[in-house]
Amino acid sequence: MSLFSFEAWLASQSQRAENALLQYLDSDTAIPQHLHSAMRYAVLGGGKRIRPLLVFAASELGSVDQVDGSLVNRAASAIEMIHTYSLVHDDLPCMDDDDLRRGRPTVHKAYDEATALLVGDALQTRAFEILSYPVGPDPKTGFAQLRMIASLAHASGSKGMAGGQAIDLQNVGKKMDLPALEEMHAMKTGALLICAVQLGGIAAQLSNPAMAQLDTYAKAIGLAFQVVDDILDATADSATLGKTAGKDAAQDKPTYVTLKGLDYANELANELKGRALNSLNEFGPQADALRHIAHLVVDRKK
Ligand code: IPE
Ligand code: IPE
Ligand code: MG
Ligand code: MG
Ligand code: MG
Repeated sequence: MSLFSFEAWLASQSQRAENALLQYLDSDTAIPQHLHSAMRYAVLGGGKRIRPLLVFAASELGSVDQVDGSLVNRAASAIEMIHTYSLVHDDLPCMDDDDLRRGRPTVHKAYDEATALLVGDALQTRAFEILSYPVGPDPKTGFAQLRMIASLAHASGSKGMAGGQAIDLQNVGKKMDLPALEEMHAMKTGALLICAVQLGGIAAQLSNPAMAQLDTYAKAIGLAFQVVDDILDATADSATLGKTAGKDAAQDKPTYVTLKGLDYANELANELKGRALNSLNEFGPQADALRHIAHLVVDRKK
């Protein structure tokens, strides 16, 4: 029997994510104060921190003395900043037009639209700034940082999250076939989850075969994450989700639920969980956190 307690791991690593974000976000006394205050409002006080948790969990596959904990913390903060920026923009009236996020008014409601736009811009550049800080004389670390920057840029851009969001908006009110829907989900949500796992793997200096196995894991949970988001949108309430439920049907968005129905979506999410767990078969107990995260992603209630 494994001695690993995921509950304890989750508590300590969630705290680690909050501490890292606090460390790398600018203070709200910095000028311009309203922008820094809005950035902190967007990032702090809510969020499941799944992407930082994936960075931490993947980094545990490396040997402890090889992994630079500060670089891992910076990677975790950087990807959560990019993810938060994507949410702030996703909620804008020109995109999904949402009032509620993480149990509070969205940034454009609590501040204003221009500030929400700039919060996204500034979080994005802050993410790359903290990933690129010089950290020491070891050229291996510098090389790892460059790989991380390339991975995060790719995952965030037109062939990743931003591209997926563009496809999403283009298809409001339309029917999409299954391959197109899967591609959209893989881009708008999967790409950043895959990147989170890669950032941890890069920090841990994992071999190419280990990275390839992690990629299979991450692709499966990346797609599962958005399939479950679609399911929750249709089945949970706004108070539980901390965001407006029932938006996808109301806005005629193509999702696994609106196009294929709830049963299909649930079966797919479970099949993807199985695929993710199988891809970790070659790893020992060091991959236990990743295994538990696969369950968390699919079985979550919010
Ligand atoms: C919501 O992401 C948007 C998607 C990419 C599906 P999360 O469910 O991770 O949102 P937070 O960070 O916990 O608020
Ligand atoms: C958003 O998908 C994915 C992002 C890249 C932000 P959704 O539009 O379904 O996310 P929620 O449901 O508003 O969190
Ligand atoms: Mg959206
Ligand atoms: Mg949305
Ligand atoms: Mg959604």
